[in-house]
Amino acid sequence: MSLLEIKHVSGGYGEVDIISGIDMHVDPQEIVTIAGTNGAGKSTLIKAAMGLLPRISGSIIFDGTDLLALPIEDRIRVGISYVPQVRNVFGALTVLENLQVVEHATNKQARIREMFDLFPALAGRRAAYAENLSGGERQQLAFARALMSSPRLVLLDEPSAALSPALTDQVFMEVKRLRTIDVAVLMVEQRARQALAFSDRGYILDSGRIVLADTGANLLANEEMSDVYIGRGQAPSGSHPSHHPA
Ligand SMILES: Nc1ncnc2c1ncn2[C@@H]1O[C@H](COP(=O)(O)OP(=O)(O)OP(=O)(O)O)[C@@H](O)[C@H]1O
Ligand SMILES: [Mg+2]
Repeated sequence: MSLLEIKHVSGGYGEVDIISGIDMHVDPQEIVTIAGTNGAGKSTLIKAAMGLLPRISGSIIFDGTDLLALPIEDRIRVGISYVPQVRNVFGALTVLENLQVVEHATNKQARIREMFDLFPALAGRRAAYAENLSGGERQQLAFARALMSSPRLVLLDEPSAALSPALTDQVFMEVKRLRTIDVAVLMVEQRARQALAFSDRGYILDSGRIVLADTGANLLANEEMSDVYIGRGQAPSGSHPSHHPA
C-alpha cells in the first residue's frame, strides 16, 4: 500500500485552479521528485499534499487516513511533515530553541538528542542563532525540525535553493540518508537532473498538470522531456530548447 495517495486533486488560492487533476503516490522509503518550470505549481502541489491549500478537491490518503478530513494540527501527528521553500527556520532563535519549539514531538529531549546524532554539525552549533548559520547548516536545521515529529514522509520544497553546488551535494546526501531511517521523501527540485539521478520516481508538472510520470532513470533518458523540463545542466546560456506543444 502506498504511504501517500493523491487522487484527482485540483485546487488553488482563489477561484482559479492552480493545480488540476493530480494523481500521484509515494511508497514507504521512496524518494520522489517533482520537477517543472517556474510557476508550474510545484510549491502549490506540495502545500496541497500537506492539506494547506485554501481550496482543494479530490482525495489525499496518508497511511490509510483521509488527510483532508483531519484538522491541520492533527496531520503532523499521523506522520507527515513539511519543509517550506522559504522561511523554514526561526532566525531569531538558536539551533536548540528551533528544535524545542516544535510541537507534536513526543519525548522531545530524547528526540533532540537523536537529531544532533543525525546532524552532528548542528550539535556543535546548538547555541548559534539560526540567522547566523551557513546555508547548508540552516537546511539541516529545517530538516531536523521537520523530523522532530518522527514522520514517515517529509515534503521538501526545493531543499537546494540558494545553495552552492558543494552544499547542494551535501543536502542531497542528507535527503538520501532519510531512506535509511524509514522516511519517504516527496520533494520539489529546480536541480532536477541531479535530483532525479537519485530519485526512485519523478513527476513533471506543467501549468498545474502532471505531463509525465516515470522512474527517475527513464525521465532522465527521455531527451525531449529532458530538454524542455529538466534542463541540459551544461547548456550554454541563450540556447533555447525546442518545445513542441501538445
Ligand atoms: N499564496 C498564493 N496566493 C495566490 N496565488 C499564489 C500563491 N502562491 C502561489 N500562487 C500562484 O500559483 C502559481 C503557481 O505558483 P507555485 O509557487 O506553486 O509555483 P512553483 O512551480 O513552485 O514555482 P517556482 O519554481 O518559482 O517555485 C503562480 O501563478 C503563483 O503566482
Ligand atoms: Mg516553488
